[in-house]
This record gives sequence, structure tokens and C-alpha cells, in this order.
Amino acid sequence: MAIEALIEQALEQRNFARASFSNFRVGAILVTQNNEIYSGCNIETSSYGLTICAERVAIFKAVSEGETEFKSIFIASDSDKFTPPCGACRQVLWELAGNIDVFMINRFGEHQKRSMKELLPLGFDKSFLT
Ligand code: THU
Repeated sequence: MAIEALIEQALEQRNFARASFSNFRVGAILVTQNNEIYSGCNIETSSYGLTICAERVAIFKAVSEGETEFKSIFIASDSDKFTPPCGACRQVLWELAGNIDVFMINRFGEHQKRSMKELLPLGFDKSFLT
């Protein structure tokens, strides 16, 4: 699928966000090596600490369906700025998806692209556990 269409899908995905506490909606579209698509949005509850980001919803859905190889993730927020994934999501994406391309999309549909390695240099993962 073309980059423009994936950007549009990430923007659309914000509509499912449950963000009544932060009022900051995020949509994510994760693309597998086989071009399968998994979506996510941020989900907040009144117990604020239980919030989960859009990126982790998308990757957990994909992994729980048996996906192991990924290409890219598209992250769209309501901000004028390009919203980067939070630290927790960087760790999870690095471990479960590796050095994928990360497209950060602002509310105008403009984007900035970075690799996971750029976003998480010297990331901790299972290679350090041996
Ligand atoms: N959030 C995401 O879903 N992804 C990000 O990359 C940054 C933050 C969510 C968490 C929370 O629901 C809201 O945005 C404000 O932090």
C-alpha cells in the first residue's frame, strides 16, 4: 500500500481513540513484511496509569495473531508536531519489530520518517541477556 494511503489510515484510526482524559488522540498503523496491516489507537481509563499507547495496541494485536516480521509503523496524532513514540513504546517496538521505519504524522498529514535505531540507539534487548 502507498505511503499516502497508510498515512490516511493512521489519521482515520485516531477516531477510535479513547482519550477523554488527555484529549490527545493517536492512531497507529503497523505494516508487516507481507503487507498485512494492524491498527491501534490510544486507550485511556479513569485509572490513568492503565493507559496504553496506540503503538503498543497495534504491535500487541499483531504479535497475538502470530506476526513476527514487520516493515513500518505509521503514527498520527492531533498535534501540529510530529509525535514520536514514547520510551515504553520504543522498547516494545524495538524488541518485537526490530529496526522498522517509523513514520510520524502530524494532524495535517505531513510526515517525518526515522528508523527505530535512530529513535532508540543502544537499545536493550535479549542479546544482552546471554
Ligand atoms: N500516546 C500514544 O498513544 N502514543 C504516543 O506516541 C504518545 C502518547 C498517548 C498516551 C495517552 O493516551 C496520550 O497519548 C497522551 O499522552
